[in-house]
Amino acid sequence: MIRDMAQTIKIVDGKNELAERLAADFAGQLQHLITTREYVTVALSGGSTPGLFFKALVSLNPPVDWNSVRFFWVDERCVPADHAESNFGAAYRALLKPLAIPESNYYRIRGEDNPEGEARWYAQLIMDVAGSGQGVPVFDFIFLGLGTDGHTASIFPHQIERWDAEDLCTVGIHPETGQKRVTFTGRLINAATRIIFHVIGKEKAEIAQMVSRKTGNYTVYPASRVDPLNGELLWYLDAEAAGA
Ligand code: 6PG
Repeated sequence: MIRDMAQTIKIVDGKNELAERLAADFAGQLQHLITTREYVTVALSGGSTPGLFFKALVSLNPPVDWNSVRFFWVDERCVPADHAESNFGAAYRALLKPLAIPESNYYRIRGEDNPEGEARWYAQLIMDVAGSGQGVPVFDFIFLGLGTDGHTASIFPHQIERWDAEDLCTVGIHPETGQKRVTFTGRLINAATRIIFHVIGKEKAEIAQMVSRKTGNYTVYPASRVDPLNGELLWYLDAEAAGA
């Protein structure tokens, strides 16, 4: 484990073992937090990486008391929930349904609706449910993935200025497909108590090293702007993503 002033990097050899370690660490923190407040707010990312993490969460023994957890999404593709590319759809099949999480405990981004309108609606919902009445809502956990192009959430390099939007949510556009996505902005992400990058695979090694170690031309990547105001930044990398 490597700790510097602003971040902790945890490296676990295999992607399955990494997911199990992340799930165990998360569960341990959750167990403490749920004794201290009405509910704990967790924002999940999409893409393929979280699937192993969800599987590990479902297999936790002893299980977590999920009743005190409220799930949100960091970003969502502008597609219906039953679309193969829906981040919510993937999480529902792999996590929410197996854990029988009640619909009252999760808040999906409505990918089927108008993107700009949904970004405004979701930002307001976050203020209402995860907010404290003043300032930017502080999520207890925000899980992030990392694209090989250095995007995170759905803020892409060609639109890096959207990271600094005043709004809590905005609309990103995938550079290749043109697909619109509703996404958290940096203002909301950096307010979180725990920001956790979960990155696996050798194809991510170069970008993960540049961003986590701030080397080369790292500032051109949206992921390099993840910088918690008061919280902590943790990297969970498998050996391949760590370039080990
Ligand atoms: C999304 C994600 C995105 C993802 C990265 C990594 O909606 O796709 O939120 O930011 O985390 O693209 O994706 P993989 O886990 O598939 O590599």
